[in-house]
Amino acid sequence: MSGQRKIVLYIATSLDGYIATKDDSLEWLFKVEGDGDNGYSEFLETVDTILIGRRTYDWVMDYEKGNFPYKNKKCYVFSKTLSGKNENVEFVNEDIAGFAKKIKETEGKNIWIVGGGELLHFFIKERLVDEFIITIAPTLIGSGIPLFKENNFELELELKNIRRFNQFVELHYVLK
Ligand SMILES: NC(=O)c1ccc[n+]([C@@H]2O[C@H](COP(=O)([O-])OP(=O)(O)OC[C@H]3O[C@@H](n4cnc5c(N)ncnc54)[C@H](OP(=O)(O)O)[C@@H]3O)[C@@H](O)[C@H]2O)c1
Repeated sequence: MSGQRKIVLYIATSLDGYIATKDDSLEWLFKVEGDGDNGYSEFLETVDTILIGRRTYDWVMDYEKGNFPYKNKKCYVFSKTLSGKNENVEFVNEDIAGFAKKIKETEGKNIWIVGGGELLHFFIKERLVDEFIITIAPTLIGSGIPLFKENNFELELELKNIRRFNQFVELHYVLK
């Protein structure tokens, strides 16, 4: 049914609220003992479209050594410096609310907003994220790139589910 797709944040964070160190390392995350793939492939099945910030896209391409991992999904990379498309992604520099409205009106599965924190900030500000699935690592990293930037608005969520994957806890919220 059209108009029913949701924009879902699925992301991992340190216990003190960072998604990466200042120099973009996720080593603190990768060394945590989880359970299987911690629900990742199950989540991936629920989405067919991916929204990603340019810095996160660069990180992924670097980490995967150029092998783009979401080849079977429609991928939009938000950037004010890059445009056009390549074999894997389309670069977008549009009004975020207008873009989100347009994409939600097309048919398909849910839409994964990958992050990072900067792109997410704009989506949250416009109340465009319908669901938040946040996996917490049992680590304080002290400083880094915050999951949620400082802001001047309040967003009320409703807790939908909690799951444990060994040392990780997954919190699932929906926008009120
Ligand atoms: N822990 C996790 O699960 C997780 C998940 C995702 C990311 N990360 C990490 O987060 C880090 C990157 O996060 P970040 O917050 O620094 O950057 P980001 O949000 O990934 O990317 C920021 C860039 O996105 C573009 N952008 C942002 N808002 C835009 C808008 N409204 N319109 C058009 N373009 C826009 C700009 O690109 P231009 O500069 O090209 O204009 C901006 O420099 C990486 O280290 C990554 O590994 C971790």
